[in-house]
Amino acid sequence: MSDAPRLVTCGLPYTNGSCHLGHLRTYVPADMYVRYRRHRGEEITFVCGSDNHGTPIVVSAEAEGVSPAELSRRYHEHFDRTFRRMNVAFDHFGMTDGETNHRRTRAIVERLQENGHVYAERIEQSYCPSCRRFLPDRYVKGLCPHCGAEARGDECDQGCGKHLEPGEIRKPVCTVCDTPAELREQEHFFFRLSTFGPFLLEHLKHLRGTANARNYALGWVRDGLRDWCITRTLEWGVRYPGRDDLVVYVWVDAPIGYIAFTEEWAAAHGKDWRQYWCGGGEITHFIGGDITYHHCIFWPALLKGAGYGLPSAVVASGMLKVDDHKFSKSRGYVVWTNEDYLDLGLPADCLRYYLVASTSHTRELNFSWQAFADRVNNELVNTFGNFVHRTLHFAHTQFGGIPAVAASAPVSAVIEETLAAVDEAMIEYEFKNAVDAVMALAAHGNNLIQANAPWKLVKTDPAAAAQVIADALQLVKALSLLIDPVMPDAAQRIWCMLGQPGEVAGHRLDECTTPLAAAPLALPTPLFARLEEKRVTELEALLAARVAEAERRAACEAALPDAPLTIEEFGRMELVVGRVLQAEPIKKSKKLLRLMVDIGSEKRQIVSGIAGFYAPEELVGRDVVVIANLAPAVLFGVESRGMILAAGEEASLLVPLRPVEPGTRIR
Ligand code: MF3
Ligand code: ZN
Repeated sequence: MSDAPRLVTCGLPYTNGSCHLGHLRTYVPADMYVRYRRHRGEEITFVCGSDNHGTPIVVSAEAEGVSPAELSRRYHEHFDRTFRRMNVAFDHFGMTDGETNHRRTRAIVERLQENGHVYAERIEQSYCPSCRRFLPDRYVKGLCPHCGAEARGDECDQGCGKHLEPGEIRKPVCTVCDTPAELREQEHFFFRLSTFGPFLLEHLKHLRGTANARNYALGWVRDGLRDWCITRTLEWGVRYPGRDDLVVYVWVDAPIGYIAFTEEWAAAHGKDWRQYWCGGGEITHFIGGDITYHHCIFWPALLKGAGYGLPSAVVASGMLKVDDHKFSKSRGYVVWTNEDYLDLGLPADCLRYYLVASTSHTRELNFSWQAFADRVNNELVNTFGNFVHRTLHFAHTQFGGIPAVAASAPVSAVIEETLAAVDEAMIEYEFKNAVDAVMALAAHGNNLIQANAPWKLVKTDPAAAAQVIADALQLVKALSLLIDPVMPDAAQRIWCMLGQPGEVAGHRLDECTTPLAAAPLALPTPLFARLEEKRVTELEALLAARVAEAERRAACEAALPDAPLTIEEFGRMELVVGRVLQAEPIKKSKKLLRLMVDIGSEKRQIVSGIAGFYAPEELVGRDVVVIANLAPAVLFGVESRGMILAAGEEASLLVPLRPVEPGTRIR
């Protein structure tokens, strides 16, 4: 790998909601990648920050009755704390609303203008006549002009995933008050993205990272690029240079945050940010697959247009499902990092491992508590933890520590093979393959112990038993170094139990095969706790309760429609005139009568709660109003197929004023 200054970034979380597993699917592998490369002796700077601008934050702040700045501060701290708890260790975690980013964004926009990449144009934009304001981005919802799916403001999030320009959405409606929007003219600024096609084709050819990002982006460039509106009518954001009424579109100032955060980190560490961003740096962006367009099209074009260096790699993660359902906060299919996991005392390591080991980075990951528990119990407890524990335990009890024996050649060879496999996987961003190779090494260790039964061997051939344990201990050391990127807490505990000084994070992978010096060892403690069936059931119940609660809320909203009844809805009710042919009491019931009613097309049996108000004989021959398409019910063992309409406490029957035939439809 080159000696260029290396920077790794993660997509910036919006400060309008809490951290969940969908976030971690990007941050954990990024952190693992950084830790891994540091174990290879490379210097890497790892920056991220919170995304404070844009309508997602303004809309949420308005709903909560706080200022966007206050909401941002709160969630900024939340993410910072949560990442620390998850051992996602950024060198710097900034804010896009910080001074540095405001300054850098304005500088870049001014540079784009100087370089002729920006022009002003009057465009038609959604405007809410009732709120009396323009409706940028998430203030408006409607239909995607490309695929017809329901879309919100600037993206077709339910359908084709395309970015939508202001004024493009069809049937626009204000998200605040549900009023259909009008179109009004306003002046905005546009970036000449349409001229960047050839540049982007070339850039994407050399872009490293995952193939999904590159391929999608190439497809979009080939489809043709349109100029990009980079201003919005909003108060909150980075002021557009020279304009009081406009801010820069959030997708301009958010990625510029990557530069600003590098500047902030560099200033605090006596480094020069230009080494990263003005050409010659190696920049790797980890992102969720849903923001590929922004990182592979908008962002490199902006950097190019303003004369900055370009990203070297974009690593895009697949989406997350929960129990086979599309991830959805509103429908309850969500797992919160703090509330549902860390706060319950579950270890960061296990979740980190699960997120990486479940599936390839670019695939969809289908989370379930059972699958999580299976991995923890089978792989972490039974394979990895068990091998480490029995090795340390046996070394302690039989040899008092590490015997003065070097590891055998075959064991060194297996470790070397694993190192090569892990390296190949990491270079290709195949994080699952990397952890699988490490687990295979642990399984190899278990087989070694099982096959040689050192507890028996020690009685007949202590030297041979010492060799087995020396080999196993070498594997344990290698496992500590190799697993550190994924499970830093467990790795450090192994390192300490092996009697190694300092932090495993500060050691290179080369040391996997360097011999362990003879030393006493203490009795080990287990690395991982089994996740019992009872616990899994509790965790599943928590998720189920959240889904049920979301369903209940949705049902309530559906049951109280504020919209008036439509004629179509009324038409679904089959109201007809029926003539009572027979009437008789139902045994054991004081209230019910069994009626036979002629409704024209047929004779219906209907059970009616009017026994307290009418004698059966006074009903026979009367015309009444019947709901004919009511779902059947059984009352006191008698089937009822319909309902007679009556008014008030005394059940005054509704009757036609003038004679009509049975079966006549009521409209
Ligand atoms: N906040 C955005 C999102 O959650 C991501 C911003 S990433 C950046 O979709 F590149 F713009 F910084
Ligand atoms: Zn669409």
